[in-house]
Amino acid sequence: MAETDYRITRRAVLEGGAATCLFLASGLPVGAQDAGATMAAGPVTTPIARIPMTFRINATEHAVKLDPRTTLLDALRNHLGLTGSKKGCDHGQCGACTVLVNGRRINSCLSLAVQHEGDEITTIEGLADGDQLHPVQAAFVARDGFQCGYCTPGQICSAVGMLEEVRAGWPSHASADVAAGAAALRDEEIRERMSGNICRCAAYPNIVAAIRDASEEV
Ligand code: FES
Ligand code: FES
Repeated sequence: MAETDYRITRRAVLEGGAATCLFLASGLPVGAQDAGATMAAGPVTTPIARIPMTFRINATEHAVKLDPRTTLLDALRNHLGLTGSKKGCDHGQCGACTVLVNGRRINSCLSLAVQHEGDEITTIEGLADGDQLHPVQAAFVARDGFQCGYCTPGQICSAVGMLEEVRAGWPSHASADVAAGAAALRDEEIRERMSGNICRCAAYPNIVAAIRDASEEV
């Protein structure tokens, strides 16, 4: 027998595979055949209606219609034009998206916008009082606490929330005595309490100095 008599060509494999599929599909239950047809047609997408939401951000009411799956960060940046909060990782790991909700710092990339109707939201755009910078903002400028500046809005919002936590006597992992109340804000404390905010430029020494300065003013 000549070698070419039993050589399997690519075309033969494809034709054989298609025939086998048709044979198998015809023998399957109706539901399974439907599933096969759906897979061939691609994923089914069901449109989700946008729903009206109102937010109070930086002391101003905002009304917007959003897909209920929209994160607070995307709502701020993409739908409300408040682009001060930055998207670094979108996974809760860098802190670039930090905003204040009812005075407490959160990662806005990990929170759905729809959860925050009725909350008092403060972004970096809302910290200054007119032309008067917030003391933490002023300290960052005075101490040169940024390089590229991408992490800076999150660092500043986080520092504002953190200083409030210190004032309220919340301990941190670096506190020697967690029952001792308000801790002295040593550099070690500042670094621990700000550890959720990553700076790719390593401006940390100046950030720590800025927060130490601001802690005496707020
Ligand atoms: S973008 Fe939210 S933590 Fe990084
Ligand atoms: S200043 Fe560049 S990431 Fe912090």
